[in-house]
Amino acid sequence: IDPGLDLFEEIERLKKETDTILLAHYYQEGDIQDIADFIGDSLDLARRAQAVTHKRILFAGVHFMAETAKILNPSKTVLIPDMAAGCSLADSCPPDAFAAFKAKHPDHLVVSYINCTAEIKALSDIICTSTNAVDIVNSIPAEQPIIFAPDRFLGAWVQKKAQRDLVLWQGSCIVHENFSHKKLIELKVAHPAAKVVAHPECPPDILDEADFIGSTRKILNFVSDDACDTFIVVTEAGIIHQMKKNEPEKTFIPALNDDETCSCNECPFMKLNTMEKVYLALRDGAPEIHMEESLRARAELPLLEMLKRSK
Ligand code: 13P
Ligand code: SF4
Repeated sequence: IDPGLDLFEEIERLKKETDTILLAHYYQEGDIQDIADFIGDSLDLARRAQAVTHKRILFAGVHFMAETAKILNPSKTVLIPDMAAGCSLADSCPPDAFAAFKAKHPDHLVVSYINCTAEIKALSDIICTSTNAVDIVNSIPAEQPIIFAPDRFLGAWVQKKAQRDLVLWQGSCIVHENFSHKKLIELKVAHPAAKVVAHPECPPDILDEADFIGSTRKILNFVSDDACDTFIVVTEAGIIHQMKKNEPEKTFIPALNDDETCSCNECPFMKLNTMEKVYLALRDGAPEIHMEESLRARAELPLLEMLKRSK
């Protein structure tokens, strides 16, 4: 790429010229969030992708999010800035092992968190996101046993909120499972008036310290609506860009992980996407998400079931 190129201008031009909509998650770097046509949590992004009428979708997020867009809107060309932008949680649930696990619980309904591959979605009955997980589980009759996959921490939180036993797949997210409880307590002591907001992918000892637990969109709404002016943020630090934009007068402190070499918590997969790669994906029409139609159709059913239940 010519270093003199104005990436903002070029991206805007290419979006128009190629009839592409740029969707982005709150964990993307600030510039990508700013140039996106729509920014949201996993549920809002899935809904928006389903409704897209443009020729192409460029999904600035991780692979399972772009794959979900393709599943819900298959006639569109779906691009992702970096095909290697995966998700440790999705990787923690290999389809063969999960199929064997499911076979051991033949009378169970499978509720899977959207952070999973198309193969796992195809093995599931209903998908959920962190926005609607508790409501989805509550929409299932009490006597129906449930497998919840792949995140054991989100599963444990849902189990507590819905007061219901769930058979949990033991997956986790490398970003949220590594927040340091000790450092969080230190931050709370240093900022006694601050409220702690956390994503439900965090382990229970972290969630026990939180004043509010929710998906990225719910956390953003909370910090805007709450009267408090300082928040300790226990989720991927990219979201702080959006918090500062929405609430320039408030203070946001990123929680820390146990790695002394890293000052804040960033998802290494989300951060593979850069402005340069957004530009190249628009220019070259690649990398593109491809999926076999029979897999897509099987993976779509539990997603549609989720969308039906979370109007
Ligand atoms: P949200 O659906 O809350 O945006 O979460 C997505 C995610 O990947 C969390 O790690
Ligand atoms: Fe996956 Fe965790 Fe990154 Fe979210 S933050 S995309 S769950 S690895």
